[in-house]
Amino acid sequence: MNLDGCNALITGASAGIGREFARQLANRSRSMILVARREERLAELRDELRQQHPNLAVYIRKVDLADFAELKELMHWIDREKIDVDLLINNAGLGDTGAFATSDPIRNDQMMLVNTVALTSLTRHLLPKMIAKRRGGILNVSSSAGFLPIPGDAVYAATKAYVTSFSEALRAELWRTGVSVCAVCPGPVRTEFQEIAARPGAQPVMGSRILFVPVQQVVRQALAALEADLPLVIPGLAMKIAMFLSRLMPMPVVRLVLRLSPKRV
Ligand SMILES: NC(=O)c1ccc[n+]([C@@H]2O[C@H](COP(=O)([O-])OP(=O)(O)OC[C@H]3O[C@@H](n4cnc5c(N)ncnc54)[C@H](OP(=O)(O)O)[C@@H]3O)[C@@H](O)[C@H]2O)c1
Repeated sequence: MNLDGCNALITGASAGIGREFARQLANRSRSMILVARREERLAELRDELRQQHPNLAVYIRKVDLADFAELKELMHWIDREKIDVDLLINNAGLGDTGAFATSDPIRNDQMMLVNTVALTSLTRHLLPKMIAKRRGGILNVSSSAGFLPIPGDAVYAATKAYVTSFSEALRAELWRTGVSVCAVCPGPVRTEFQEIAARPGAQPVMGSRILFVPVQQVVRQALAALEADLPLVIPGLAMKIAMFLSRLMPMPVVRLVLRLSPKRV
């Protein structure tokens, strides 16, 4: 997909990877819908983008993607405004680090709703028009956490396994329709994500430094992968190698390694 002149919808644009998507797309898009709960952050970003790109139309929508009514209202608003979204970036997401047995059930629900349900509903809503116009791109921000089960991140890793699997199946369904689907599977990226995923009173789990990839690189590689019509991208060489090796491990070996990982109960 050629991103020039696209009408993009970016979820989770108030911070981290989503905000960087907006910045890197600003000089190529015709319009942009920025979605998140923190409206003031979205307004700041809108002002910044408009100042630098006066011809860019920027809409901000305060939406809790874990709330069905708000999600539906967003979809109705897009229809009412007659915005032909041809680039959907399903980026909003959250994690929760700690044992499942002691997890907050409401947070688990939010994680599943934002990471998987909202992503699926938005895709279902916007896809038919993309197919009709034979032009569209869907960039699903998954995670390398989706390649393997992860004790201590059980629900999060499972939601990301869903995102990667869904993206691959959808891509196959959409072959030769003019609509590209790409799953982005970053390793650790320095954003607010780790702090938000930490339980009250616990230190954020940062992971190995060597695996961290700058947010700008994640977004650059993700957009390039979509334009090149690649199915999946793992930004950063170290993470790519780590994921390649981990996927060579037979499941019985994976289970042994998982059992030896630090206990968080
Ligand atoms: N950072 C990493 O290490 C890493 C690694 C792999 C994959 N990822 C994935 O990358 C994506 C972006 O994460 P990030 O690192 O940029 O994290 P972040 O800095 O915490 O940003 C998360 C974004 O999601 C939005 N969001 C969260 N819950 C929402 C809700 N209920 N309704 C609407 N928006 C919501 C937040 O906006 P509001 O709070 O304003 O609503 C924020 O804009 C996520 O899908 C994450 O799983 C991150």
